Amino acid sequence: MSSFTNASILKPVLFAMSVALGIVSASAQAASGEDLFKQQCAACHAIQKDAPMGMGPNLSGIVGRSAGTVQGFPHSEEFTKALNGKAWTPELLDKWLENPQQVAKGTYMMYQQPDAAVRADIINYLKTIK
Ligand code: HEC
Repeated sequence: MSSFTNASILKPVLFAMSVALGIVSASAQAASGEDLFKQQCAACHAIQKDAPMGMGPNLSGIVGRSAGTVQGFPHSEEFTKALNGKAWTPELLDKWLENPQQVAKGTYMMYQQPDAAVRADIINYLKTIK
C-alpha cells in the first residue's frame, strides 16, 4: 500500500475529492427547497405538470399564475372570494405560507410556516417548476 501514500499520487486525488465535495454541497443547497417541499407540501400537492391533484391543487408553474385556476379543483368559497383575480407573486405566496387563514379566512389549506427562511427556500424552489 506504500505507493498510495506517495505524494505525487495523493495530490491529484485530494484535488479531485475537494472538487467533488464542492459539487455535492452546491447541489445539496439547491435541493433544500425541493426537500422542504417534499416534507411540507407534497402530502397535499402534486408539483409535476399533469400529475393528478391531491388534497390540494397541482402547483406546477404556480409562481405568476392566477390563484385558483387549476382546472377541476374545487376551491373553498373563502379562497375564491379572497384570491379571485390575484396572481401568485412571491410576496403573496410568502404571506400565504406564513398563514393561509390570514389571507383567506376559512380556506381548506391547513398549514402555517413561521420561519421566513424556510418559506423563501420553498418559494425559490416553486419558481423553478414551470
Ligand atoms: C394539509 C394539506 C396541505 C398542505 C400540507 C399544504 N397545502 Fe397548499 N393547499 C391545500 C388546499 C386544500 C388548498 C386549496 C385551498 C382552498 O381552496 O381553500 C391549497 C392551496 C394552495 C395554493 C393555491 C393554489 C392555486 O391554484 O391557486 C398554494 C399556492 C399552495 N396551496 C401552496 C402550498 C405550499 C407551497 C405548501 C407547502 C409549504 C402547501 N401548500 C401545503 C392543502 C395543503
